[in-house]
Amino acid sequence: MPNKAYKRHLVTAALPYANGPVHIGHLAGVYVPADIYVRYRRLKGEDVVFVCGSDEHGVPVTIRAEKEGITVQEVVDKYHNQIKKSFADFGIAFDIYSRTSNQIHHETSQEIFKKLIDNQTLISQNSAQYFDPIKEKFLADRYIVGECPVCHNPNAYGDQCEKCGSTLTPDMLINPRSALSEATPIKKDTSHWYLPLDKYEDWLKEWILENHKEDWKNNVYGQCKSWIDGGLQPRPMTRDLDWGIKVPLPDSEGKVLYVWFDAPIGYISATKEYFSPQTPGRGFKSVKSNDWETYWQSEDTKLVHFIGKDNIVFHCIIFPVILHAEGSYILPDNVPANEFLNLEGDKISTSRNWAVWLHEYLEAFPDKQDVLRYVLCANAPETKDNDFTWKDFQARNNNELVAVLGNFVNRAVTLTERNFESKIPELGELQTIDNQLISDLKEFPAKIGESIENYRFREALGYYLDLARVGNKYLQDNEPWKVIKEDKNRVATVLHLSLQIVANLAILGEPFLPHSAEKIRKMLNLNELAWNFGGKIDLLKPNAEIQNTGLLFEKIEDSVIEAQIQKLLDTKKNNEVAQATAKFKPMEQKEEITYDDFTKIDIRIATVLTAENVKGSKKLLKLSLDTGIDQRTVLSGIAEHFTPEQVVGKQVCVLINLAPRKMMGMESQGMVLLAENADGKLVFVTPTDLVSNGVVVK
Ligand code: 2FM
Ligand code: ZN
Repeated sequence: MPNKAYKRHLVTAALPYANGPVHIGHLAGVYVPADIYVRYRRLKGEDVVFVCGSDEHGVPVTIRAEKEGITVQEVVDKYHNQIKKSFADFGIAFDIYSRTSNQIHHETSQEIFKKLIDNQTLISQNSAQYFDPIKEKFLADRYIVGECPVCHNPNAYGDQCEKCGSTLTPDMLINPRSALSEATPIKKDTSHWYLPLDKYEDWLKEWILENHKEDWKNNVYGQCKSWIDGGLQPRPMTRDLDWGIKVPLPDSEGKVLYVWFDAPIGYISATKEYFSPQTPGRGFKSVKSNDWETYWQSEDTKLVHFIGKDNIVFHCIIFPVILHAEGSYILPDNVPANEFLNLEGDKISTSRNWAVWLHEYLEAFPDKQDVLRYVLCANAPETKDNDFTWKDFQARNNNELVAVLGNFVNRAVTLTERNFESKIPELGELQTIDNQLISDLKEFPAKIGESIENYRFREALGYYLDLARVGNKYLQDNEPWKVIKEDKNRVATVLHLSLQIVANLAILGEPFLPHSAEKIRKMLNLNELAWNFGGKIDLLKPNAEIQNTGLLFEKIEDSVIEAQIQKLLDTKKNNEVAQATAKFKPMEQKEEITYDDFTKIDIRIATVLTAENVKGSKKLLKLSLDTGIDQRTVLSGIAEHFTPEQVVGKQVCVLINLAPRKMMGMESQGMVLLAENADGKLVFVTPTDLVSNGVVVK
C-alpha cells in the first residue's frame, strides 16, 4: 500500500540456487540494490531485518550434481559456502545468510504445507505426467526439455524458456525429451497436491491490480497483470523426486515439496533462525524487536522482496497466495524486480560460462569491490535489460570514481595535509559562494533518500556523484592552491567546507560504496554514522587531525581491461568449439603405427610468402613458403576456400618430406596441413604462440 505508516522493515533478497557461483547479473539485479536499500534504512536508524540464504532444492541443483559427477550434498555444500563468501566479500550486509537444507526450514515448510492441507487449500489431483522410460523417473521442471511454444528455442526447460523468459509447464513443450537420457518421454499417472490459483483470481485482482497499480514497478505490475488477465490455473506444489523436503503426509513416499513452494518460505525460516537463541552474535543494531513473528506477522512491518524478473510470478502470485491462504503472515508491500543484465551483448549463462563470476573478479581486482558495486548500480537493469561491458567498467572507474569522487577527496585531503599540517582548518567569514555550497549540500540527503525509497538506485547514485561534482567545482572556482600565497585564512574556509563535503560523501556514500566510505571515515577520523548527519557542515571540528591514507580509487589501464576481454573471447571460442564438436561425428581411429613410422614424417612450421591462383585450375593455389631451411613451392588445393590475400603471411604446418609431385606443369614440394570441419570448411593448422619457421612439429 503506498504511503502506509510502517514501524519496521523486513527485506529479503532472492535465495540463489546453490548450483554454481554468483555472477555480476545476480549482484546487479538483486543483491546490490537490496543492500543499498537496507544500508540506507539502517543509517536512518530504522528497524530492519535483511535475510537471504541458499536455495538448495530443485532440479537445477540435482542436474549440477549429475554434470559434475559428485553427490547433490557435495554440490550444495560447495556452492553454499562459495556464494556466502562472495556476498560477504562484496559487503552485502545480510543479518543472516541461511540455507534451505537447515532443519528449521524443513520444519517450517512442512508446517505451512500441512496447514494448507488441513484448511483444504491444497487439492489432491491425479494426472498423467511425463516419465523417462529409461531412467524410470518422472520428468518435472528442468528434467524435461523441448521446443519453446513461444520463441521456438529448441532447448527450453519444462518450467521456463531461458531465451524468451516465458514461464512454461512440461505439457507446453513441443517435441519434449528427457534431459536425463534424451529419451522421448511417456505419460504415467501420478497424484499431486495443487494450489488452486484460479480461486484467488479476484483476491489477486484487488490486491495487485487495484492496490498496487501506483507503487509497484511497471515491469512487475505488467507481468502480474498479464498473468492474471490470462487466467490462472491450479499449480502442483509437490513433485516425484528424491531430493527436497519430504511431503509430510502418510503414503507420500518419493514425493517432495515443489522447490518454489519451499524456497520463499526460506525467508521465514531464515528469520526464525536469526532470532533463535542458538544463533550466535546477531550483527546489526538496526534490529530492534526480538522475535521473528513481529517481523512476519505484524501489519506494521514493511516486507520488501528484491528479486530478478524471472522470479516475479512466484513472489507476486504464488507465494502471496500461499501466505494469504495460510492466514498468519503479512504480504509484501513491494517486489522491486529488476530486468536482466547482459554481458558484452550476450545473455549471461552459467552453462556457457558466459559470466563474470564474483570470485574470479576478485582474483583479478582484489580490493575493487566498490568499483563493481558502483558500475553495476550505475548501469543497473532497473527498467529494461542492460549490458555490462569491460570498456564501460573502465570508463566509469576512470572518469567517474577516479576523476570525480576520488579526485575531490584527494584534493581536499592533500591540500589540508600540505597547508594545515593535516588539521581541519577553521571556518572563517562566509562568502556568497560558500553559502551557495552550504545550501546546495542541504538538498542531497533528501534527494538521494527519496530515490532509494522509491527503488530508483541509479538515480540515487547519480545524485551522490553530483555532490562530488559540486565539491570539485567549488575547489576549482576558489583555487585554494593559488590563493594560499596571499590569503591563508580564505583557504582555511574553503578547505574546511570542502572537508565537510568529504565527510558528507562518507555518510551518504555508505549504502553504495561501503568500503570506500569507511576509508574516507578513517581519513577524517569520523566515527558517527547516521543519515541525519548528512547535509550539515558541522561534522568535523576545527583542529581535529585527519590522515591521508592514499588514493581512494586508481585508474584501470587498457591492458588490464584487454585481458578481461580476451578471457571472454577465449570462452566464446571454447563454446563454439564445443558446439561444433557436439555436431561433428569424427572418423574412427586409423590403424596403429609405431613411433618409428611417425618419425619418418617431417612436418615443419613455415610462413606463406606469396600466393597466386594457378592458371587453368579452379582448385590450386601456388604458395611460396619459407620453411626455415629453404624457400619452396607448394601447390595446395585450397583455391575454392581461400583467396591468395587470405593466405599470405600465415604461419602453417607443412609436410616437407613428401615426394615432389607434378601438377599443372609445376612441381609441388610438400603439403600444407589443414583440418576440415563438419560443414566442409577448411582451417589451417597454425601455431597459437610465437615459433620460428623450420621448427619440427612432433
Ligand atoms: O531463481 C532462483 O535462483 C531461485 N533460487 C530464487 C528463489 S527466491 C526465493 F523464493 F527463495
Ligand atoms: Zn522461448
